[in-house]
Amino acid sequence: MILNAKNQTQMLINGFMSTAIIYSACELGVFDSIKREKNKLNLLAEDLNVDPVYLIKILRPLEQYRIIRCENEVYSLTDMGEYLAEDSEDSLKDYTLFCGRECIKVWMKMYDSMVECKAPMELLGEDELFNNLENDEDRFSTFNKMMSSVSKQLDLEALFIKLESKFSCIDIVDVGGGTGTIIKKFLRYYPQARGTILDLSQAKDAAEEGLLKDGFSTRCVFKEADFFKPLQVTGDIFVLSRVLHDWDDEKSELILKNVKDAMGDDSKLVIIDEIILDSNNPACIKGYICDIQMWVFCNGKERTKAEFEVLLKKAGLQIDDIINIDNGTSAIICKKENVTSYEVGEI
Ligand SMILES: C[S@@+](CC[C@H](N)C(=O)[O-])C[C@H]1O[C@@H](n2cnc3c(N)ncnc32)[C@H](O)[C@@H]1O
Repeated sequence: MILNAKNQTQMLINGFMSTAIIYSACELGVFDSIKREKNKLNLLAEDLNVDPVYLIKILRPLEQYRIIRCENEVYSLTDMGEYLAEDSEDSLKDYTLFCGRECIKVWMKMYDSMVECKAPMELLGEDELFNNLENDEDRFSTFNKMMSSVSKQLDLEALFIKLESKFSCIDIVDVGGGTGTIIKKFLRYYPQARGTILDLSQAKDAAEEGLLKDGFSTRCVFKEADFFKPLQVTGDIFVLSRVLHDWDDEKSELILKNVKDAMGDDSKLVIIDEIILDSNNPACIKGYICDIQMWVFCNGKERTKAEFEVLLKKAGLQIDDIINIDNGTSAIICKKENVTSYEVGEI
């Protein structure tokens, strides 16, 4: 079907409807039930404990979106639907739950925010994102699972090849490492490396559980730490993955300074974040959307290369290399800024 300009506009306007339908189906567990072969309307309704009169209302559009199919009154998942089931490899279910439970309400505050010059989460009376999550185990768990499913998708091989030879023995510190999805990728690639995850106390149980389950508990530890305070660790490689974009420049500078102070002269820092272009560029659409996401949730932002350079310089760091790892997401390899002889001399 060729859409005219009006239809195309309408489709964009209606985006929230598809989010609501897919989210409700995930929250109900529609895709998991279909996968367990509760695949007829009545069986499905019984399994999900909902009235089939309501259930059919969301099954019809899901079929039209090609997320499920229905043949002879039997439902099954399409390739798209498979991604919404809990136990699928690379499942998007946790991401969808986060969108429905958390994102929609803050995104809908965007207009008021602009008019009132306040971040959307402030208008909802919310504290800083991570302070909020700290006091709510369920919300923190939804956030962690979403973050883990996003980070799982990153292919870091190009970064690893550039960074260090495979069998060199290294200490890796993942600052704000959450439940360890990123550091486990490092530890898989570098079989002799040891790892430390630094994060808030609420990430501890899920992180340690994951390390044990994936066989890393002898090579990696979780240490409770606040990255706004001096870090009590040493390491060859420090990682800040999807951390700086959560914070404004002032707070990001403080995090970077604390990391720099923990780095040895030969240590490297790897920042994993989007790099957006100054000029509006179709290649950066993911980054522009993430930029809004960071603003509405935490008053953070995505940055251009020039913005990273300024921030890093203020913290006494400089860029060594940049590797594009996934459609706008980059790994920025940094080192301590060159210390010139007169700075360390006897003056
Ligand atoms: C967006 S998540 C990134 C998680 C992980 N690095 C990844 O890429 O999957 C940001 C992380 O920063 C942690 N965090 C927030 N404030 C912190 C603080 N003051 N000190 C240490 N960690 C903090 C959060 O708990 C969360 O795990």
